[in-house]
Amino acid sequence: MQETPQTRHDNQRMTAKYEVLHDLERPVREMIARHESKRELWFPSEFLPANHGTNNDREIAELRKRAEGIGDAARVALTVNILTEEGLPHFHRLIANNLGGESPWKEWNGLWTAEEDRHGNVLRDYVRDSRILNFSVLERLQFDYVRSGFHPAWNGDPYKTFVYTSAQEKATFVSHLNTGKAVEKQEPLLYSITQRIAQDESRHYAFYLNVFKEIIARDPNGALECASEIMPSIDMPGISMANFTEYADVIRRSGIYGPRDYQKIVEQLISSWDIGVLTQLNEIGRKAQEKIMSIPARLQKVAEFIESRVNAKSFTFDVIFGRVLNMA
Ligand SMILES: [Fe+2]
Ligand SMILES: [Fe+2]
Repeated sequence: MQETPQTRHDNQRMTAKYEVLHDLERPVREMIARHESKRELWFPSEFLPANHGTNNDREIAELRKRAEGIGDAARVALTVNILTEEGLPHFHRLIANNLGGESPWKEWNGLWTAEEDRHGNVLRDYVRDSRILNFSVLERLQFDYVRSGFHPAWNGDPYKTFVYTSAQEKATFVSHLNTGKAVEKQEPLLYSITQRIAQDESRHYAFYLNVFKEIIARDPNGALECASEIMPSIDMPGISMANFTEYADVIRRSGIYGPRDYQKIVEQLISSWDIGVLTQLNEIGRKAQEKIMSIPARLQKVAEFIESRVNAKSFTFDVIFGRVLNMA
């Protein structure tokens, strides 16, 4: 393909971004070490015994009894949380492609993927042991979702990848945390699983947030330009799932995760990255700053609009055995 002035310009900017990434390798090594020293490694079998020779029939019987009390909205939230986690191959690929090979980024991708992998595992183990979902429907959803992939329009841009992962880690944190709260009374075991996952998400969030902070310090104009493209609305990884809009509606109506949560996330990112007070920006940076600063008010309007428009609604999903779910 012939190089046009525009593609030449884009290529030069991408090269500059990789130089920033290269410059970040030392602080990133320290961040990885800090991350690992703070987090306690855990495994799904600590929550749901599965080792050879263990006989936990009674434990499982009690678990199933307690799990009967888990409401259908929480089951829907769990379904989406599981599917989101099981989309891990998509994210491993995006991080590997967008951050490059021989570097601490590769080390981070391996560590992060291994940590994330347990989230899908433990939730899937839980719903299998507890029988709270139609498991074969869940398996089919998982197959379809993994197969269809996740293809955000980031053009391989590493800065956009970090903005997205910062927002997305925080969104999964909120979702696991609040799903846990919705089941806490009936099922303390599931509550403790979700809180453990949420802790991991919170540490991942801190990692990506700090990486992007370092990027802003080195290339504020490029960083803000990318942030202004990603932050208005993040594509949820499950967007390609069948019934995703209805699942998201149930999750919003049940107070687990919705547009107001996303608005809070954007506000936190803006304040953690000091976006409002950055000076010495060029025209591109200033425009991006202005655009980013206007996002929370716009998100608030969207949330108000959705809330004013909705009435009570009924849902049915195969994954919760086709039961009717009436939501206010
Ligand atoms: Fe996760
Ligand atoms: Fe995470």
